Amino acid sequence: MTCQVKVLPSGHGFAVEAGETLLEAALRQGIGLPYGCRDGACGACKGKVVSGVVEHGAHQEKALTDSERAAGFALFCCARPAEGQAEIAIEAREVTGIGDIPIKTLPCRVESIVKVHDVAILKLKLPVSERLQFRAGQYIDILMKDGKKRSFSIANAPHDDAFLELHIRNQPGGSFSEYVFNTMKEREIMRFKGPMGSFFLREESDKPIVFIASGTGFAPIKGIVEHAIHNGITRPMVLYWGARTKADLYMAELAGSWQEKLPGFSFIPVLSEALPEDNWTGRTGFVHQAVLDDFDDLSGYQVYACGAPVMVEAAHKSFTAERALPEEEFFSDAFFLAKDLGQK
Ligand code: FES
Repeated sequence: MTCQVKVLPSGHGFAVEAGETLLEAALRQGIGLPYGCRDGACGACKGKVVSGVVEHGAHQEKALTDSERAAGFALFCCARPAEGQAEIAIEAREVTGIGDIPIKTLPCRVESIVKVHDVAILKLKLPVSERLQFRAGQYIDILMKDGKKRSFSIANAPHDDAFLELHIRNQPGGSFSEYVFNTMKEREIMRFKGPMGSFFLREESDKPIVFIASGTGFAPIKGIVEHAIHNGITRPMVLYWGARTKADLYMAELAGSWQEKLPGFSFIPVLSEALPEDNWTGRTGFVHQAVLDDFDDLSGYQVYACGAPVMVEAAHKSFTAERALPEEEFFSDAFFLAKDLGQK
């Protein structure tokens, strides 16, 4: 049975077919609901069910707590209309700019694999007749032969679309990253689906920006900053990039070079476990703490956070609770490992 969903406050509507989640149906019909992992883990798709009943589906407790569920909230990436529901109304913040970009499934060829410390920089080439329209900061799903998928941020900007660039960290025990590091060959053909996600620059705003990344969370921010350089966006921007050791800042030189290319941009690398041989004289500790130390008040800012879920959560909690960052000005993409999502 088809269920009609009305989104408040916009009044937009979409139809959910049997078996679809609310998010799948919304995106299919060009309604830009926010989302991240699409696996019930990050909470980015959370919204309120104002009327009607949904089946919540499998999700992680921290993404939707029992008390939130009791208060009427749901994760739209896993919620489906309950049996027999003809109409549902939800309250959700809509994102302009994702609903109008088509999500495609395409083949691609591995053009190059360059290993920098424990990160593989993969460049993928699309068929000559194809071009992927995307917003800087979005991600794609690599579709594996066994039916599983792995999500990776696109690290280049849309104007520079000869290749899609992905940054893949070598995760011991991670089947895809081990494959990339040990078996994958240049010219290999893969398939992917994308673009996905609502982590991209809100260009309608002129607020100054704090970017905060941990590890390969740098990848989508690289895409966004390169987009800003290309488009001459001169909003003040500061990037805090946190890693354990100096070698983990695998593109620090590039990030530093943006300071010359983009007026008002600054780069602050932060190490949590610098090695003696790093001879590190820069900032140390947790990367979100470095932001807290530098800003007394984030009420006039936008924050874009990407990387380990624990960093993204700490940044969200402390910036909104302790530094007055408005909830709606925090944008994030938390990188869950396959094992966090119950996959191998
Ligand atoms: S929990 Fe729904 S998108 Fe992450």
